[in-house]
Amino acid sequence: MKILGLSGSPRAGGNTDTLLGALLAGAASAGAETDAVHLRDYAIHPCTGCERCRKDLTCTRFMDGMHLLYAKIEAADGLIIGSPTYNYNITPEMKAFIDRLYPYYRFSAERPGPYSSLFQGRDRKALVFSVAEQTTPEERGFPLRRCSGRLRRWDLR
Ligand SMILES: Cc1cc2nc3c(=O)[nH]c(=O)nc-3n(C[C@H](O)[C@H](O)[C@H](O)COP(=O)(O)O)c2cc1C
Repeated sequence: MKILGLSGSPRAGGNTDTLLGALLAGAASAGAETDAVHLRDYAIHPCTGCERCRKDLTCTRFMDGMHLLYAKIEAADGLIIGSPTYNYNITPEMKAFIDRLYPYYRFSAERPGPYSSLFQGRDRKALVFSVAEQTTPEERGFPLRRCSGRLRRWDLR
């Protein structure tokens, strides 16, 4: 089983990286093949909404670091995704990454209309976590809701 871990922290060796490392170590001790990706090490251009991926089925707008990650994502049986909370939200690195997963949607011609995921029917799992400094739900914001809502749409639970 391949488990891909993704950290959205701009800070090397911070809490997000530490937690991701511990989670991946646990997966490795259970026999998984693990891979840690720190999004800050990849040049990922924000999505511009050109929607070429609807036709091309991959991003043909930018030939950047995201293309190094697409293959890893497709091969993974499970994902662990973690982001620090920055101003109640996920970091820009994580937002750019999530938006650039748009090629994995399968849209109908209708707009607005139904859509599904390329990975529909594959038995994949995801674990999402966020790191925050504050203690109240209001101050901790909505990184978890943000990530897990997206993941449900990719047919990952
Ligand atoms: C620019 C910035 C904005 C932050 N905003 C929040 C926030 O809205 N709520 C919160 O609880 N913590 C906030 N924090 C604290 C971080 O979530 C916390 O320090 C976390 O450990 C950072 O992740 P890292 O250790 O991987 O760098 C913020 C930190 C920074 C640098």
